[in-house]
Amino acid sequence: MSHDWEGLVQEDRVHRALYTDPAIFNAEMTKIFGGTWVYIAHESEIPNVNDYVTRKLGLRPVIVLRDSNNILRVLYNRCTHRGTTLCRHEKGNARAFQCPYHGWNFLNSGKLRGVPWADGYSADIKDEKFNLAQAPRVESYRGFIFATLNLEAPILLNWLGPMTNPIDEWLDRNPGGKIVVCEANRFKYKGNWKLAYDNSSDGYHVIYSHRSLLEMENRLSDASNKGMAYYKNSPDSLAMYVQYMGNGHHFKDKRPNLQARPGGLWAIESTHPGKEYAEAEFRRKYGERAESLLDLAGSEPVNINIFPNLSLLGNHIQVFQPISVNETDAVWYGTRIEDVNGDIGDALGTINALRMRTQEGFPNFGEVDDLANFEQIQVGLQCEEDEWIYMNRGHGIPDRIKTNADGTITAPATDEVFMREYIKEWKRLMKGPTPLSIKREP
Ligand code: FES
Ligand SMILES: [Fe+2]
Repeated sequence: MSHDWEGLVQEDRVHRALYTDPAIFNAEMTKIFGGTWVYIAHESEIPNVNDYVTRKLGLRPVIVLRDSNNILRVLYNRCTHRGTTLCRHEKGNARAFQCPYHGWNFLNSGKLRGVPWADGYSADIKDEKFNLAQAPRVESYRGFIFATLNLEAPILLNWLGPMTNPIDEWLDRNPGGKIVVCEANRFKYKGNWKLAYDNSSDGYHVIYSHRSLLEMENRLSDASNKGMAYYKNSPDSLAMYVQYMGNGHHFKDKRPNLQARPGGLWAIESTHPGKEYAEAEFRRKYGERAESLLDLAGSEPVNINIFPNLSLLGNHIQVFQPISVNETDAVWYGTRIEDVNGDIGDALGTINALRMRTQEGFPNFGEVDDLANFEQIQVGLQCEEDEWIYMNRGHGIPDRIKTNADGTITAPATDEVFMREYIKEWKRLMKGPTPLSIKREP
């Protein structure tokens, strides 16, 4: 397949084919979801030896696990006999996996352990070719596990680059610099996966797309200072900003709007069911301490978007999982904290309950607005003759966009520079030769 990538991706616009062409989607599953680092799971989901979760690397079903020797592995969830899905569970703890079809049995290192009635084989069943395929490179950064099939990709740390700063800050406000990933709020939309990534630092849509949520918040409380309210008047003149971080990653930072005081973060927390009651109880019980404790439940006002499929926002982790050219899963995992330093005490349960409750705020009442737009874009892009979509906001305006000494690019909150830049990285990956590899246990 050859595409005119320069023609399809221009300085201020991209062709509809990026979102509608099944051949481009198939190439993405190799060159992006395979050819670069892809977020696959969090270490806290598999804390113990032999723990596993089943996920996808692009369209490849995989088992992400901590093997019996405590090594993180991403095994292909595909039996080497005739190819069926080996493990049919979402998560569990297992030293070995037995194929449901003919019973081949694999250790969690990927090695074939045995087959029923082995005397029926003339081939050497110990040959390495019968061991499960696995991702040749698996690395984690502070608990976030990534995998790639590209032996030539840079090490994870270099690929994340300056993105490690916002990730560190997002983690370090929690006790011990840790979060534990919990269950998820699962959405599916009929649209291309990039529509979600395009939107993930989009400060331009907020006041229009999420109007009903903002109006509801205004009815329920004085919401003039809540998270999204910053976009109301002239968002580009505020201290918040969007920053392109290189390698397709981008970062939206609304923290400069925060009052730096205990309770400052909680003060901008959006409304969610039961919030006022829980808050009052908290203040009654913990007095002075309540403010800083409530901050531990608050949603950090950032969007940390790690190309191509991970977004840390508020106190959630969102993962974009492509299904087909026009179908995507958008999964919002909740997170909880642990009392690592022993100074939270019996407030921990309430803090974590409040963190869960924030799943009922924006993810339920805001995300649906976004998904509706993604689906309508996919409909609009069926108009073959109307070929372009524009990402030109901020383009060509002198002094609006600043390139920093470290090569990152900063712009006002509603700017689309992050889209123009990440799609260049997308183009670079799509154009390049992508040698993919698997490995098997010897
Ligand atoms: S397909 Fe797995 S044992 Fe036959
Ligand atoms: Fe949105």
